[in-house]
Amino acid sequence: TVGKSTNILWHDCPIGQPERQKLLNQKGCVVWITGLSGSGKSTLACALSRELHSRGHLTYVLDGDNLRHGLNKDLSFKAEDRAENIRRVGEVAKLFADAGLICITSLISPYRSDRSACRKLLPGSSFIEVFLNVPLEVCEARDPKGLYKLARAGKIKGFTGIDDPYETPSECEIVIQCKAGDCPSPKSMADQVVSYLEANGFLQ
Ligand code: PPS
Repeated sequence: TVGKSTNILWHDCPIGQPERQKLLNQKGCVVWITGLSGSGKSTLACALSRELHSRGHLTYVLDGDNLRHGLNKDLSFKAEDRAENIRRVGEVAKLFADAGLICITSLISPYRSDRSACRKLLPGSSFIEVFLNVPLEVCEARDPKGLYKLARAGKIKGFTGIDDPYETPSECEIVIQCKAGDCPSPKSMADQVVSYLEANGFLQ
């Protein structure tokens, strides 16, 4: 159904993003967290949301796993469905940013082209890609949901990092490094993102 609408016209409202941003004392943006399963995307998203909230900023978290319970429950993990998953979340994130919120997304988003398409949806520098760079060995050792074990046993096909690709970001704004035995705490990961938002004028 994508791209099939015809005879449609755009309608503007007198209250727009600038008015909403003024009210909220922040600039709407999308903090797009990408990384392997088990890298800590949801943990970072929640820590960042908590940190910003405590400073009086309005955020909303769009979590891949959670959205697959509703909006994206019709999508599988094959490449074209992952692309559609990312496209929909990109569009929703764009609406939240337009609403003036700091929208934090946590999805594996394994393909560069899908992430890049979302970046193009957002104006100026308001798409902030955060690469949670955690080696596969570390994610697999954590295996919080037991999915790596199932994937290694061949019980899940097309699992990211095992028998499906993860394309490392080439144009991200923030890289959070984690090595075996040396991962920053959720709070310090969140602080790294908050510093970027402050330095780039998203928080007033
Ligand atoms: S994607 O690739 O961006 O469309 O994936 P996403 O919507 O973020 O969903 C990832 C979560 O789905 C679970 N899961 C899988 N992940 C990767 N590959 C396969 N085949 C798969 N099957 C199920 C897994 O719990 C992911 O959650 P996280 O939080 O990333 O561990």
